[in-house]
Amino acid sequence: MQKFLTLICLVALLTACSKENQTNRVDSRIDSLINVMTLEEKVGQLSLYTSDWDVTGPTMRQGYKEDIKKGRVGAIFNAFTAKYTRELQEMAVKETRLHIPLIFGYDVIHGHRTIFPIPLGAAASWDMEAIEKSDRIAAEEASAEGLHWAFSPMLDIARDPRWGRIAEGAGEDTYLGSRIAEARVRGLQGKGVGELNSVMACVKHFAAYGAAQAGRDYHTVDMSDRMFREVYLPPYAAAIKAGAATVMSSFNEFDGVPASGSKYLMTDLLRGELKFNGFVVSDYTSIMEMIPHGVVADTASAAALALEAGVDMDMQAGFYEEALGKLVKKGTINEQLINTSVRRILKKKFELGLFDDPYRYSDVEREKNTVMKLEFLEAARDVARKSIVLLKNGQLPRQEKLLLPLSKEVKQLAVIGPLADARKEMIGSWSAAGDWKKSVTLLEGIKAAVSPKTNVLFARGCNISDDSTTYFAEAVRVADKADVVVLALGEGAWMTGEAASRASLALPGVQQKLVEEIAKTGKPIVVVLMNGRPLTINWIAGHIPAILETWFLGTQAGNAIADVLFGDFNPSGKLPVTFPRSVGQIPIFYNMKNTGRPMDRNNKYTSKYLDEENEPLYPFGFGLSYTTFEYGAIKLLKEHITTQDELTVLCKVTNTGTRAGEEVVQLYVRDLIGSVTRPVKELKKFQKITLQPGESREVSFTLSIQDLAFYRSNMSFGTEPGDFHVFIGGNSRDTKAAKFVLD
Ligand code: GLC
Repeated sequence: MQKFLTLICLVALLTACSKENQTNRVDSRIDSLINVMTLEEKVGQLSLYTSDWDVTGPTMRQGYKEDIKKGRVGAIFNAFTAKYTRELQEMAVKETRLHIPLIFGYDVIHGHRTIFPIPLGAAASWDMEAIEKSDRIAAEEASAEGLHWAFSPMLDIARDPRWGRIAEGAGEDTYLGSRIAEARVRGLQGKGVGELNSVMACVKHFAAYGAAQAGRDYHTVDMSDRMFREVYLPPYAAAIKAGAATVMSSFNEFDGVPASGSKYLMTDLLRGELKFNGFVVSDYTSIMEMIPHGVVADTASAAALALEAGVDMDMQAGFYEEALGKLVKKGTINEQLINTSVRRILKKKFELGLFDDPYRYSDVEREKNTVMKLEFLEAARDVARKSIVLLKNGQLPRQEKLLLPLSKEVKQLAVIGPLADARKEMIGSWSAAGDWKKSVTLLEGIKAAVSPKTNVLFARGCNISDDSTTYFAEAVRVADKADVVVLALGEGAWMTGEAASRASLALPGVQQKLVEEIAKTGKPIVVVLMNGRPLTINWIAGHIPAILETWFLGTQAGNAIADVLFGDFNPSGKLPVTFPRSVGQIPIFYNMKNTGRPMDRNNKYTSKYLDEENEPLYPFGFGLSYTTFEYGAIKLLKEHITTQDELTVLCKVTNTGTRAGEEVVQLYVRDLIGSVTRPVKELKKFQKITLQPGESREVSFTLSIQDLAFYRSNMSFGTEPGDFHVFIGGNSRDTKAAKFVLD
């Protein structure tokens, strides 16, 4: 045994030494390279330009190929496929003096060719394995098409559904967002940067971009450092701790300074506190945008501010290219600053193996054998099913049975609505190289699922967002013929994502009128929602017996929805974001503060509206199943703990229905008294469990002292003694409660 242990230690020591030697070797190769680079060649490494294969921002770069040949660019984005990246790489390697290879980046946000649910949808799965797998597949496909770098994960906490980019993140909650951050970095980077089937992750948008005032994209972000550190920072920090290779600065100002010029964010916090050691890229022309922000007057000042703040690479502004060389020659900035950024970028190029083989990711054969494999499509369907949230499932008049799941033997099934056969919308926003023409529509998914005896009828009913009611009559006629109606409503894919804020959360166009016309037929209706943000579907919630929230589910959308509609899959999704009753309630989120006058309908002078509820339409964490679950009383193994303890919390969950189902058991905590006010609830743990009909399971959670820590009145992070409540349930509203004391 002793010999075995000695051998293990020896191997571990040798591995560590070899890793250290390898790092030293790379560092010395970087030193040698920097020593022979001209100032212009160094500056060239600090620019990132878009190709003309995709448009993801307000400017294009004519002549990017010339930039490559002249060594004026270190990385290119929006260029992909093995063939094209090889073509561009050859320009860089063969035509520049030092043959420094390019990095290729792209917005691989929820899949590359095989498209998965939009991130807000995937977050509704609360399934970290599924989310990690979706990004693992995205990395397989992206790296097979010559890409080294995904501008993902987007980790901006969003509490305002008017903001279109809420679709792109993990919703409103810090804990769920942090776990998803870790899963996405693991998926994208796999066994590590440099593995042939991995890509570099990019934590974005640093920081707090989702807190844009009024939900208006690019708008001002202004919050206390406490709010920032408690709510918005942790997901970015979790991704960095998980080893994310790069970070992207955000468009917004933060505490009066545009993020791309904020030394507090890009150096003191990111590198000082979070120990980030990769490189920072700006967002699309965000360095230039510091001029309209009003903190600098010209190109040179913007370039100097960004570089000194800690932004290593200038995406698309061309300000580093234009100004940095001159600033060094004038003595305004020290060349060492440039060397530091060049080193960070070269280090990633070495880690990617590009100096050993610049074309290792540009392999046409591998691409052909990798992209959209059947197993990837099956995985896309599985993640999509898991992302669907059952918001309502009611009985029909004079019927015992709940409306869902539908029978595949139904004789006349009408599929109606602007999203019923809308192939282009299925892959949502930020769908990268996804080919919408390969998506499965809801109509196709339903036709593939029902029996040969079923007659499937279709009517569009209306368009997504115009005011034409021309097709209403036909839709009503089709509904009249049917035994049941599936009504597909929602937004266009372009109504969320970047630069897509909405001042209203209502169904767009005349869709509300359509659903009311179809409801007059008296037919049983299932509403299938396809949307990138919460919508105020109050009338539907009050009048339609069944509602499925399906987001934009990607390439396999139609099949996944059909799997749930007909019961081949029991829905298990839970909302990662609160659904307001009205825009007037925004910002509305579950982990709010209690205030000094908590709402009391019977007391005028309390915190409420004259014309609206305080409660949301659907709370964070909400989602139903085709079975039912019952929660027993919470058991605490201790009712008093010290800062040296952990607390085991037990709760028996029973499947009281007639079919197997998955339940996301959620644990929330409230610190009743603090040196600063504390939220009424905070998600601290969750477990997704599967229970057979009648089966019970005692779910066990372990709360650590770290779970109870917060930024105290003096901004130190830690706990305070006092009373705590713990809540467990299937959503943030309907929970069992218990108390414990931290001594
Ligand atoms: C866009 C987005 C960012 C994206 C980048 C490159 O403006 O803000 O998320 O990664 O530009 O497309």
